[in-house]
Amino acid sequence: MKNMIDLISKEVGLAFEAAGYEADLGKVTVSNRPDLCEYQCNGAMAGAKRYKKAPIMIAGEVAERLAGSAIFEKVEAVAPGFLNMNISPAWLSEYVAAMTKEEKFGLETGEAETIMVDYGGPNVAKPLHVGHLRSAVIGESIKRISRYMGNKTIGDIHLGDWGLQMGLVINELKERNPELPYFDEEYTGEYPEEAPFTVSELEEIYPTASGKSKEDEAYKAKAMEATFKLQSGVRGYRALWDQIIKVSVADLKKNYENLNVDFDLWKGESDVHDIIPGMVQYMKDGGYAHLSDGALVVDVKEETDTKEMPPCMILKSDGASLYNTTDLATIMDRMKTYAPDKIIYLTDKRQDLYFEQVFRCARKTKLVNEDTDLIHVGFGTVNGKDGRPFKTRDGGVMRLEYLIRDINDRMLDRITENRDMDPEEAAKIAKIVGLAAIKYGDLSNQASKDYIFDVDKFTSSEGNTGPYILYTIVRIKSILRKYTEQGGDMDVAILPPVNDPEKNLMKELTGFAPMMKGAFEEVAPHRVCAYIYSIANAFNSFYHETKILAEEDQELKKSFIALLGLTKDILETCIDVLGFSAPEKM
Ligand code: ARG
Repeated sequence: MKNMIDLISKEVGLAFEAAGYEADLGKVTVSNRPDLCEYQCNGAMAGAKRYKKAPIMIAGEVAERLAGSAIFEKVEAVAPGFLNMNISPAWLSEYVAAMTKEEKFGLETGEAETIMVDYGGPNVAKPLHVGHLRSAVIGESIKRISRYMGNKTIGDIHLGDWGLQMGLVINELKERNPELPYFDEEYTGEYPEEAPFTVSELEEIYPTASGKSKEDEAYKAKAMEATFKLQSGVRGYRALWDQIIKVSVADLKKNYENLNVDFDLWKGESDVHDIIPGMVQYMKDGGYAHLSDGALVVDVKEETDTKEMPPCMILKSDGASLYNTTDLATIMDRMKTYAPDKIIYLTDKRQDLYFEQVFRCARKTKLVNEDTDLIHVGFGTVNGKDGRPFKTRDGGVMRLEYLIRDINDRMLDRITENRDMDPEEAAKIAKIVGLAAIKYGDLSNQASKDYIFDVDKFTSSEGNTGPYILYTIVRIKSILRKYTEQGGDMDVAILPPVNDPEKNLMKELTGFAPMMKGAFEEVAPHRVCAYIYSIANAFNSFYHETKILAEEDQELKKSFIALLGLTKDILETCIDVLGFSAPEKM
């Protein structure tokens, strides 16, 4: 099904043609003066230059030819040469009725691509904190939007599971429990099944070790040696590392599950360790990499650069690999295994330059095909009400778990305020709505912008918030439920709108397909939020102005119900791609 705005543009284009002008002038947009008209076309202004004629004359000729069109209720040529248009209510309702019958509300998805989304990116043995929220939430939504658009989409968590951090943990464990079999190089037996630590211990061990290594050179050297031993495959170190991964990943899974985030692949930096030597050789053989102060680097500077662009380091002078090295090897691995058309990375925008280097290096060394898209979505910081990076009350890093708990507690307060509710049910609802509050609060901001994490605002049922969207859905569900309880049957016949709010709701609904396409192409989930906010507003104005269940004309009532059904389905589809859901009641 064609987008409505394209259909309208085509109609206006034909009128331009009939009047002796070129059809491309007929491009129509939503009016920026809704007080004057619903849609507008500025083609006569462009045509004036092309045909050396007064724009108002051209506009007048086109308006005349559109007078009999079934699409418009009104077409006016106004000075200096605008075409102002209102859509025909009957034509609009037929378009909306057709949307209810089409799969994906008439969205045409185009050819499927293979798209990988690299998000989450937590580091093993460290607890998730507020900084991990955005990668998970935005990445999950990008993945779902891509999937909805019909693409084969693979989400990969890309664990940080290989660097010095692992050596730090292993070394600290060794200092504390030197008697463990993992550290006995003579030991040839099976290693214990049970890990010698819990996740909470692990989370304390890492910062302790990291702190010590900053103060104590000898300690740091030992941690580096442990990293080296791990990476060169010393049996006990590998076995201990397996335990660290096992304990940490089990905990990560639980945390991501609470966020309704799930990954298809749980790969990590360690997975490409074995292919690094081959990649390095390939880069040397191809003449891409050269030595600079003992380190192996690939130059990625381009003539047009206006900012500093340091070379991409592949190996340090001691031969150790870096964050870059694993990312490049991961690209190589992904190309071989999945041949993606696009890889999208989600990290803090402070990694912008880093990804620019990596992408240039991957292109230059031909690790990717010429037409493989590499995209970095760099996001801004989550700030507290003071406008500074979000902290706990005592100034520490905020754990993600606690952040979610704070939102859920506040949500529960709000839900149970002035009313009696089964506590278990209330808690369940608070969890569902709380997740919407967090995710919508994040996703409604353009990713690159910082935002303020405001528990009061995010959990409010009024304004541009997740709970407001959910309230709207729940309200529609409850009307639909009552309607069926009263014996009403569902139909898809949608009659022309009876008032302006209904017409407005219909027009907003027709924006679904272009919105979803745009959100996908621009990698911009905030567009989905902006769309559902205007749908929710349009629905609520309609609801306040119109008797729905009390409508006596049965055909009209059925039509209202069909429109409500479509509104609900579209809203639910949208929140699903945003990664949250609505309760039955709240
Ligand atoms: N673990 C990294 C960090 O904490 C993020 C990984 C992002 N993904 C990537 N392919 N580099 O900064």
